[in-house]
Amino acid sequence: MKVLVATQKPFSAAAVSGIKNILTGAGHQVEVLENYAEQAEFVAAVADVDAIIIRSDKVTAEVIAAAPKLKIVVRAGAGYDNVDLQAASAAKVVVMNTPGQNANAVAELAIGMMIYMARTQFTPSTGSEIMGKTVGIQAFGNVGRLVGQKAAALGMKVKAIDPFLPAEKIVEGGAVPAESLEDLYATSNYVSIHIPATPQTVRSIGYDLITKMPKGGVLVNTARKEVIDEAGLAKALEDRTDLKYATDVAPDNLAELKEKFGARVYATPKKMGAQTAEANMNAGLAAANQIADFFATGNTRFQVNKF
Ligand code: 3PG
Repeated sequence: MKVLVATQKPFSAAAVSGIKNILTGAGHQVEVLENYAEQAEFVAAVADVDAIIIRSDKVTAEVIAAAPKLKIVVRAGAGYDNVDLQAASAAKVVVMNTPGQNANAVAELAIGMMIYMARTQFTPSTGSEIMGKTVGIQAFGNVGRLVGQKAAALGMKVKAIDPFLPAEKIVEGGAVPAESLEDLYATSNYVSIHIPATPQTVRSIGYDLITKMPKGGVLVNTARKEVIDEAGLAKALEDRTDLKYATDVAPDNLAELKEKFGARVYATPKKMGAQTAEANMNAGLAAANQIADFFATGNTRFQVNKF
């Protein structure tokens, strides 16, 4: 089978070579398309492929239509909002993710962002310490749980909420369950967002929630920019001059936010939560193994679409 690794933001060379070893060892052929500038290059590269490994690369209906032999897409990572699941299912293409494989990298960045904002973006201005403060974790999945553990080890109080987890699971994970999302925001000095982008969550965090945060609150988003209501965020920062926002996913209105709020807003230049050697290796090799296994045995354990 022919497997395309399509990564606009490439894996490390070591991860690419690991992916190649697994797949060629299983008798497959591997092609790599990295750093492509235009979506058209991706579309053109899929004509004869049976499988694709991606990161945040967009598998649109156009990509699916351009790949008549395609059988499986593996998103090396957690969020699969970049894949048109409906188009994939209609074409009977299996879509998988590699849950948990890059979670530690994202969790470390979330903690790093809290400290970066607490310490005034590493300027000499007087900052604050995170020890003794409360972090509220919005969604207690692979990343959220790790953020909680690391925050607790740094002396923070940890609260969490997850619409898919009962309170006892949150307690088992080492956090105090928040009574509601509003309660989480109202009682947390830091809120760390770990929800996926879905029709239910897109633009779900806006003015009302953000302004519930206590004085000096910092909102940290290492999830997806789409979950933020950007106009609501801008208004919250305007009305509450004590609040701050740090994000690994630059909002569309970043220029406006930077101009109005300066150092109260920080965004990484490019999404980098999962961009560590370890996460590249973990997620990349998991994706390659899942593809090899799928072709060898039909294993669909991490499939996220239904048809
Ligand atoms: C994920 O959903 O796994 C993360 O957002 C990582 O995305 P990336 O592979 O584009 O860095």
